[in-house]
Amino acid sequence: MQVALVGLGVMGKNLALNLIEQGLTLVAYDRNPDAGAELLSCAQSLGLAERLHIVSDLGDMIRRLETPRSILLLVPAGELVDRVCSDLVEAGVDKDDIIIDCGNSNYKDGIARKLKYQNKFEFATMGISGGAEGARHGPAMMASGSEGGWERIIPWFEKVAASYNGDSCFARVGQSASGHFVKMVHNGIEYALMQLIAEMYQLLRHGTGRTPKEVAEVFKSWSEGQLNSYLLSISSHILELETDNKESLVDLIDNKVGAKGTGLWTAQNALELGIAVPSLVAAVQARHLTNTIDTHAAKEMTYASQQTAKIDIDLDELKSAFYLASLLCYRQGLALIKGASRAHQWKVDLGKTLQTWRAGCIIRADYLDDIAEGVEFIDTLQAESLALRKVTGLAVSSGLAFPVLSSTQTYIATLSTPSNGHLVQAQRDYFGEHGIKTHSGETCHLTDLVEIDAKVR
Ligand code: 6PG
Repeated sequence: MQVALVGLGVMGKNLALNLIEQGLTLVAYDRNPDAGAELLSCAQSLGLAERLHIVSDLGDMIRRLETPRSILLLVPAGELVDRVCSDLVEAGVDKDDIIIDCGNSNYKDGIARKLKYQNKFEFATMGISGGAEGARHGPAMMASGSEGGWERIIPWFEKVAASYNGDSCFARVGQSASGHFVKMVHNGIEYALMQLIAEMYQLLRHGTGRTPKEVAEVFKSWSEGQLNSYLLSISSHILELETDNKESLVDLIDNKVGAKGTGLWTAQNALELGIAVPSLVAAVQARHLTNTIDTHAAKEMTYASQQTAKIDIDLDELKSAFYLASLLCYRQGLALIKGASRAHQWKVDLGKTLQTWRAGCIIRADYLDDIAEGVEFIDTLQAESLALRKVTGLAVSSGLAFPVLSSTQTYIATLSTPSNGHLVQAQRDYFGEHGIKTHSGETCHLTDLVEIDAKVR
């Protein structure tokens, strides 16, 4: 099987090596000739160069490929994707060829591109997770698009992707550009889990007075059981790293956090679709907040003025709270995918989606085993729910900030305790005559139910 790859940056180069290692023949192109030369030299040192053809223009790429052609794009999201697609049309791709956008593109661009190129070639999307390591040795691959174009490639990508218990972490999760939507939500969950772990660290370090190394020990002990996850493992590794002067590595790093935008898109789409993902939104805003404050001044203020209080936390309860909060981040993300799939008629398969997250990706975790059985089990975790409530209360009482932890507690509390929506409904109708819906399902106004002599002005 022969495929082509356009874009030989870090992800492209590593995916290219993975593809040829799995037995595919690759025609590769990058507008920077050095990138092609570097890939060739890596392939040579692995003894795989005969499966690789570096080309210097897209016309040559098109001529070398057997038809129907399969072309992967690993170029930065945005305008460049369209530019490469147009160049490929000019170079001679045709209707039966498939071009798969594998970058972190916005799914809305994917939908538009499907239409734009519908008579020129088959446009498909695939979200890839796992960073450079994953691309090289087995990423998670969230693909989408019409069945036809994918048929000939699927068996190969199933080998290229990571595998979990013998099952591939490649899946065509749904129709249209749903692969990119699923990858976007993967990243939204990624933001929330990263921030949640950072908050556990914050609580243990500044709330209970542990050193980064001691926090690393706590995380390591959690990783030995059910809570094992990639993000927890890398966090505990980072926290135990020290310079030669025994300074903790994390203390050398500024607090301002950047973002490429997929977390923001997740939040925006959730808000537009009316699907509540407070933990995911809070994680995006937590990053924004790190950029809003003058972190240096804030650091001095925190230490100098002693405005926070030490707290006594039970480690088993904290572990339970962290477990449930993590599960609830996935639950919100899955609800968003389900809602978007319904709204766009993508027929996204949540089982297959979870399968792609089992290995290779950034949000892989052992407890996905539990979620794979059905997210509803999360609602039965009584002891963990009490622990989450207690831990959040204590954490907040320290005066430190816990945006994702507290949003997650708010999320579960909102779903499982008496609501106050009736008063908000009444307020809307009181001043704006927007109507209310009663328990019996009737839509009316407050004045249909009670007599209001004179309204407050
Ligand atoms: C992955 C990552 C990857 C990338 C994020 C970073 O799944 O491999 O999610 O896609 O690291 O895009 O996103 P931010 O720069 O927004 O944190």
